[in-house]
Amino acid sequence: MAGMFDEFALGDLSLPNRFVMAPLTRARAGAGDVPNELMAQYYAQRAEAGLLISEATNVSAMSRPFDRAPGLYTQAQVEGWEQVTARVHDAGGRIFAQLWHGGRVGAMGLLDWRQPVSPSGFNDDVDSLHVWGLLDNGNYVRVNATPSRALSTEEVRATVQEYRQAALNARTAGFDGVEIHAANGYLPHQFLSARVNRRTDEYGGSVANRARFLAEIVDAVSEVFPLSRVGVRISPYTSYNNALDDQVEPMYAHVSSFFDSRKVAYVHIADVNGWYGAPDMAKILEIVRPRFSGVLIANGGLTFDTANALVGDRQVELVSFGRHFIANPDLVSRLKSGAALNALQEQNLYARGEAGYTDYPRLA
Ligand SMILES: Cc1cc2nc3c(=O)[nH]c(=O)nc-3n(C[C@H](O)[C@H](O)[C@H](O)COP(=O)(O)O)c2cc1C
Repeated sequence: MAGMFDEFALGDLSLPNRFVMAPLTRARAGAGDVPNELMAQYYAQRAEAGLLISEATNVSAMSRPFDRAPGLYTQAQVEGWEQVTARVHDAGGRIFAQLWHGGRVGAMGLLDWRQPVSPSGFNDDVDSLHVWGLLDNGNYVRVNATPSRALSTEEVRATVQEYRQAALNARTAGFDGVEIHAANGYLPHQFLSARVNRRTDEYGGSVANRARFLAEIVDAVSEVFPLSRVGVRISPYTSYNNALDDQVEPMYAHVSSFFDSRKVAYVHIADVNGWYGAPDMAKILEIVRPRFSGVLIANGGLTFDTANALVGDRQVELVSFGRHFIANPDLVSRLKSGAALNALQEQNLYARGEAGYTDYPRLA
């Protein structure tokens, strides 16, 4: 029976174990959203994971839902990431970049005083969107989102090209692959959502039309990386950033079949309600597994035992952990030796420098 410590072939990448470090925004980038030496140290500390997925990384200056999150659209950012990927590789690890566009999860104060963009300029629920800013006094605070405006059809196409360019930059920066962030209510998820996407052009209306933006991103990115190095993250049923709608099943059945047709490297299932103890994983797997024959990564409120059971039962191939990897740079070794895990320092999740970032203790 397969277990979490078994190696795994992800396409042509050999993973030494089934542990994936989930994408985790930590807001430690420097001015200009440039990755720095502290970030390189943090990722390298966690390189024993089978695969690291970077924190959400902005594909353009119009995507900055969280202040001090890194980007992949300027030369300085590419050079900043080069030191990160080099350190991870030197430590024997593998790392994908998570490509991010916040869309309507945005505020003018973080976007050079430009209005956030979205599928339809639907703004009734703008207060439920999670946007975070860094104050001059060092405090990291949730700020109000600014009502967004609808992208024109031409702008939607141009945004697809921003993902392509970001993937090209990720390749230049030495990443082993990319993960398209289509979860948690950000721009691709906004297009999937019937509630948020009210467009009347080819990017709105039917399930296939609402999925078109994501499909075009997958295809554009595949011009840069082989699809064996392109993963996608989805979060059906989450109400985070209010992208929930009442057509979850037909939409995720459709996109699962699409991912299968393209043979993407993996589908990463973020069960956001599972973080809070109300898992939807079984329901999600019922939709995705029969239609997608490739690699599945499960995430969200999982323990070592539930992870092992999912892998052992062949429901998924890999499992990602978020909070445990924040608090335990040597998570895999700790679990292997049966050692206790460090507790998470909630107050240091974002923008607190080394504190609660690179200073969690390793096993002696
Ligand atoms: C501090 C923090 C930052 C996060 N940042 C991201 C992110 O950048 N991209 C993403 O897709 N999910 C993000 N998530 C969600 C995690 O990837 C993961 O889904 C979540 O922590 C649940 O997994 P866990 O129960 O193993 O912690 C974040 C979660 C936390 C706690």
